[in-house]
Amino acid sequence: MARKGNDKGNGKRNDKGNEWWRTAVIYQIYPRSFADANGDGIGDLRGITSRLPALQRLGVDAVWLSPFFRSPQRDAGYDVSDYTEVDPLFGTMADFDRLVTTAHDLGLRVIADMVPNHTSSDHKWFQEALASPPGSPQRDRYIFRNGRGRNGDRPPNNWRSVFGGSMWDRVTGADGQPEQWYLHIFDSSQPDLNWENPWVRERFKDILRFWLDRGVDGFRVDVAHGMIKKAGLPDYRPPKAVASMGGGQGQKDQEVDDPPYWGQDGVHEIWREWHEVLAEYPGDRVLCAEAWVAPLAKVALWVRPDEMNQAFNFDYMFAGWTAKDQRRVIDESIAAFGAVGAPATWVLSNHDVIRHASRLALGADSPQGDGIGPRSKGKPDPVLGLRRARAATALMLALPGSAYLYQGEELGLPEVIELPDSARQDPTWFRTRGRKYGRDGCRVPIPWEAAAPAYGFSPTGASWLPQPPEWAAYARDRQEGVPGSTLTMYETALRLRRGKRLGSGTLEWLPEFARSTAVVAFRNRDVVVVANLGRAWVTLPEGRILLESEPTHIGRNGRPMLAPDATAWIETTERPASAR
Ligand code: NOJ
Ligand code: CA
Repeated sequence: MARKGNDKGNGKRNDKGNEWWRTAVIYQIYPRSFADANGDGIGDLRGITSRLPALQRLGVDAVWLSPFFRSPQRDAGYDVSDYTEVDPLFGTMADFDRLVTTAHDLGLRVIADMVPNHTSSDHKWFQEALASPPGSPQRDRYIFRNGRGRNGDRPPNNWRSVFGGSMWDRVTGADGQPEQWYLHIFDSSQPDLNWENPWVRERFKDILRFWLDRGVDGFRVDVAHGMIKKAGLPDYRPPKAVASMGGGQGQKDQEVDDPPYWGQDGVHEIWREWHEVLAEYPGDRVLCAEAWVAPLAKVALWVRPDEMNQAFNFDYMFAGWTAKDQRRVIDESIAAFGAVGAPATWVLSNHDVIRHASRLALGADSPQGDGIGPRSKGKPDPVLGLRRARAATALMLALPGSAYLYQGEELGLPEVIELPDSARQDPTWFRTRGRKYGRDGCRVPIPWEAAAPAYGFSPTGASWLPQPPEWAAYARDRQEGVPGSTLTMYETALRLRRGKRLGSGTLEWLPEFARSTAVVAFRNRDVVVVANLGRAWVTLPEGRILLESEPTHIGRNGRPMLAPDATAWIETTERPASAR
């Protein structure tokens, strides 16, 4: 029987079977950097609620909130110490309820971020495990092992943490002597749970129901590829190509076996159980997987009909800015997800990677995954980066399926490179002793009003990471209603995407450009999309121009021409499906 749930606002949400997520544009809010209502320099739930109308105007369908649960914030909330409480840093449960009601009244769905692979070391389960002897049920909720070597003073295996250093830390026993080791794929303050243990599984079902009862429309699931480890925890030697994104969170084109802690078959049983939990609720709730595995045909296993609904498309995110790479990844995505009946997804930025307005202009000597900072080589050209970012987004938002946006990209924000060392907070920065800058550069609080303190982020002007002086020019109020601004381009693209039902359309490559080394061109319903990734201007096909990421010009032949690193949408007449 379906549960009642606390279905706040928006009656449409009760329709089962409309599967809104198949075509949704989902906007990621990183709560600490979105909007600060109480002036302490850290974004909060009341701040988010106050700014939701701006997201409705932007034209997105849903918001995904990065974690706001109780946490010591050693990994910015991805280290949860209580899954059913709001961290006081972000507000109260009443603030959360108001956020959900307001969002639903505005027609926006709300997706929470579940972090099941690990807890914070402050979580009471881990504290109980530490206080209990080896072999106890409390220890069995986590992954404790004896060390190697005569005194057990070497870690149980050679696995390396994604954030740098060993994946194991040793605990001290009740007698004050060094004792067992525990596993942590990420920071030492993020011990991995033992998902072979049915007790752990049951607790998380309770946690899912807790938030579903409060009206959330689904979950983005953190590290959805990591929860089951290969039996026996064998040593692992990573091939060179996988050693990026902090130790192999993901990498394009790898045809290698997954490490023994990623992508193990056992994770799928968990997703089948979670699928059942969501099905108990009215309306269509969604599970989105963060699964850094390759190739895409493997990612598609996470979104089989009885598992999750969507998985982030990291292959797309990291595809090269060439016509060939873009066509390849789009074809592969539609084929891989389509083979299991899931929508393709598209994403260019999030809180873990260099913003695409910088990344798309990065040189080979400043690799993705390590972050970029003052001492990095090959810093990206911001003008070229923004131009490419706008072209890439205009291309992405015309693709069929579901797309993810990361807060601030609609303003064209670049990665902040010149952050002082003293301001950095990412555990990657500390665990690699500054060898890797980490992710702070994409997490700087976003600008709303050019002339306000902290550009409208916080009433007091406080900001947990310093905002660069040049960000006034990117502020939302400088771009709203301004023709040609990045914000206007996003709004136009989202409005057209919805009006012309591009999310549920079909992609068909234009034959005349199918092998072009410069141009990516396709039709989706009655829109033809042309992206120019080459160096020369390109003559556009006939039709009314609906959207342009850069101004088009009339060429000598009297036809509109598209500049390099630009995308245009052109209206044509929709051909009947039989003619395709
Ligand atoms: C992926 C999250 O997106 C990232 O921010 C976090 O550090 C790790 N998972 C660990 O939870
Ligand atoms: Ca605050």
